[in-house]
Formats: sequence, structure tokens, C-alpha cells
Amino acid sequence: MNVTGCLMSGSQRLMDGCFCCSRCLGNRLFETHPECKDVFFLFRDVQDLERLKTNRDLRAHGLRVMSFIEKTVARLDQPERLEALAVELGKSHYHYNAAPKYYNYVGAEFICAVQPILKERWTTELEEAWKMMFQYLTSLMKQGYQEESARQRNLAASPKDRLDL
Ligand code: HEM
Repeated sequence: MNVTGCLMSGSQRLMDGCFCCSRCLGNRLFETHPECKDVFFLFRDVQDLERLKTNRDLRAHGLRVMSFIEKTVARLDQPERLEALAVELGKSHYHYNAAPKYYNYVGAEFICAVQPILKERWTTELEEAWKMMFQYLTSLMKQGYQEESARQRNLAASPKDRLDL
């Protein structure tokens, strides 16, 4: 099976476990990288990770990630459209103050979260396909983040130093 076929068949089953995954995604990221929670304004003052686990707003980001992944898989045959979406997402993450160094962790956490759901149906081929997909997605998000960061720096510069971006 090719990468697209692999992701398509995998993602169909993944969506069944979607809610579970979305919950795991938020929790695991904050457990491994507690500093990430500072980016989410609502959680900045919450010291207790146990309390975070039951937080609905936190699950919401996991669901957003899952729904973006669903969108990505559905658009694997429209690379230009997909590229534009992922670059835009990176730009919006600049405004959320969510730095690119954390994007890769989401892919790794995603894989850890879905592996137990798919059990014996999880294969090395599927894992490689998801890794490749996240690499592609996060590199475009990083590009968007950097473009927006450069644009904002330029806007903040004095008119005579401003580039025509
Ligand atoms: C592969 C990595 C990621 C994906 C696919 C992703 C996806 C999304 C999506 C689809 C949204 C909804 C709003 C929008 O479309 O702009 C969103 C919002 C947001 N993301 Fe991410 N995200 C990722 C990583 C991260 C990381 C690592 C952080 C924090 C360190 C983060 C922080 C936020 C914040 C603060 C918001 C706004 C609040 C919210 O909607 O929950 N994201 N993300």
C-alpha cells in the first residue's frame, strides 16, 4: 500500500477513537512538556496536571488537531491547497505564541496515543506513513510561523527600514 492509502485506511479507524485520542494528545503534551501549558492562556495558572486532564478546553485543542489531521488526509491529493492550509495554521500559531520547537512533539504524542487503539492493526508501514505526514505538516507550519514572524518584525520596523514583503 502507498503512503496515501495507508493513511486513508488508518485514519478511518482512527476517527473512531477520535475523542480518546484528542484527550490523550493534550494530556500527554503537557505531561512531557509542562511549559506548553503557558501558551494556553486559560491553563497558565493551573499547577495541577491532574486537574488539567479533565479540562474541556484542553481536550478542545486535541480535537482541533484531530480534525486538522482528518482535513489533511482528505486533501493529500491536493498538495497546493494542503500546503496553503498548513502554512496558514503556522501563521496563526505565531499569534498563539506556540513555537515550532513543540510541533514535532504533537506528532510523536499522536502516534503514542493511537497505537494502543489500533492494537495489532498498527504496522511499521502505518507508523512510517504517519511520521512522514507529521513531518510534512509541521515543516509547513514552521514555514508559516517564520513568515508571519518576519512580517510582524517588518511591520514593527520604522518605515524607512521596512521591506516590501
Ligand atoms: C502538529 C501540531 C499542531 C496542530 C496540527 C495544531 C492545530 C491547531 C488547530 C487546527 C487550531 C485551531 C485554530 C486555528 O485553526 O488556527 C489550533 C489552535 C491552537 N493551538 Fe495548535 N496545533 C498544533 C500544535 C500546537 C502546539 C504545540 C501548541 C502549544 C505549544 C498549540 C497551541 C495552540 C493554541 C494556544 C491554539 C488556540 C486555542 C485553541 O484553539 O485551542 N498548538 N491548533
